[in-house]
Amino acid sequence: MEAYFLDFANLLLRWLHVIAAVAWIGESIYFVMLDNSLRPPKAAEDQQKGVFGEMWAVHGGGFYHNQKYASAPAKLPADLHWSFWKAYTTWLSGFGLFVLLYMANPGFYLVNPGSSWEWAANLTGWQANLVALAFLLGGWVVYNEMCKRISPNMERDGLLSLGVAVLMVVVAYLSSQIFAGRAAFLLTGAVMATAMSANVFFWIIPGQRRMVKAMKAGETPNPLDGKRGKQRSVHNTYFTLPVVLLMLSNHYSFTYTHELSWVIMSLFIFAGALIRQFFVLMHAGQTRPAYPAAGVALILVAVWIGAPSGAGNAAPMAGETSVETDGQAVAAEDATVASGGPVDEIHGIMERRCASCHAQQPTHEAFTAPPAGVALETREQLLRQADQVKQVVASGYMPLGNLTQMTDEERASIAAWTP
Ligand code: HEC
Repeated sequence: MEAYFLDFANLLLRWLHVIAAVAWIGESIYFVMLDNSLRPPKAAEDQQKGVFGEMWAVHGGGFYHNQKYASAPAKLPADLHWSFWKAYTTWLSGFGLFVLLYMANPGFYLVNPGSSWEWAANLTGWQANLVALAFLLGGWVVYNEMCKRISPNMERDGLLSLGVAVLMVVVAYLSSQIFAGRAAFLLTGAVMATAMSANVFFWIIPGQRRMVKAMKAGETPNPLDGKRGKQRSVHNTYFTLPVVLLMLSNHYSFTYTHELSWVIMSLFIFAGALIRQFFVLMHAGQTRPAYPAAGVALILVAVWIGAPSGAGNAAPMAGETSVETDGQAVAAEDATVASGGPVDEIHGIMERRCASCHAQQPTHEAFTAPPAGVALETREQLLRQADQVKQVVASGYMPLGNLTQMTDEERASIAAWTP
């Protein structure tokens, strides 16, 4: 019953998280579009008022006239609209989900027993939780220091972007070594998402508050506050698409169970940023199809790297289990064919190693329903989902954390089995 309530809480929190993210990212995309679509004002009086650009739009049966001031309007309206709750809600609900799903079950979801780094492979649950929190915090601290040191007055923003790109590859690599694959994707996305929210919290909003305060006091606001807000907001723009792709990848085990998952992650990050760049430029009146073409090319590389059964695929999570290359697999195939009942043998393995979780009524205490909707109790269920079963076993993703201690021989039998 407890697992059921936890699952329900998970569903509701996820709902909130997705809605808040949609609203936040939607608004962020809208404002970048608005900024880049601004054209010099036509009316002389607007120019005199200090309007630097304007955009006319029609939407929902009405006409809108946006104007941006070069510095600030002569008089601030009392009801100035601020945007920050969407960002905070997205981060808070996302962090809540992480706690509920990953940190409540670190042995399953965070620890990477197959890590080539011994210390990481041997983390206990609470240690893994602490490492994950340090990872999130560390990502923000390093990113923030880079911004402050490389381009404090926005004079080397190009170099900074390059630095941030390198940083993300390092984050992807470290997370894939330290954490279980699925958590690695999530945490890499979460490092970016945390930087995005922290940019809003620590820089963009406080800078805007200082600007408003100065204006109310009749002083000229420090232009650096505005520029810095813009710098961080530009970073946020390029983070949005990669973050969403990394979060969605959590539903696709072929991405995160791969040995080179950090390369796949990096390709996703750059592809997302390149595709975003196309839209940013498009709103500024330039059409550069080379950007999305390059993004698609990177995704195709990821498709190629991630393809099953290629050499280099299959990253066993526990121990060394090279099911495809050694003679064991061949031997196992002979055995199953000879016994005349390969399905029975595989079904037996499912009963021993999988069905405690993958059953209509799992006996494993953490589940009240078959995880991922996959039940593996009957031969029919097994046959229907044979491809999926072979893939997750070959990649080492299942049994989760090898909690049910599947042997190398069993893995080889499943690899050699042709349903
Ligand atoms: C300790 C519990 C546990 C055991 C044991 C276990 N699984 Fe899973 N399995 C899970 C969970 C949790 C998920 C959902 C994870 C996710 O959403 O990525 C899952 C997901 C899956 C999926 C769907 C993957 C996807 O991409 O959506 C398949 C297929 C699967 N398991 C097969 C197996 C097989 C085959 C075995 C036995 C060799 C096994 N599992 C053993 C917990 C378990």
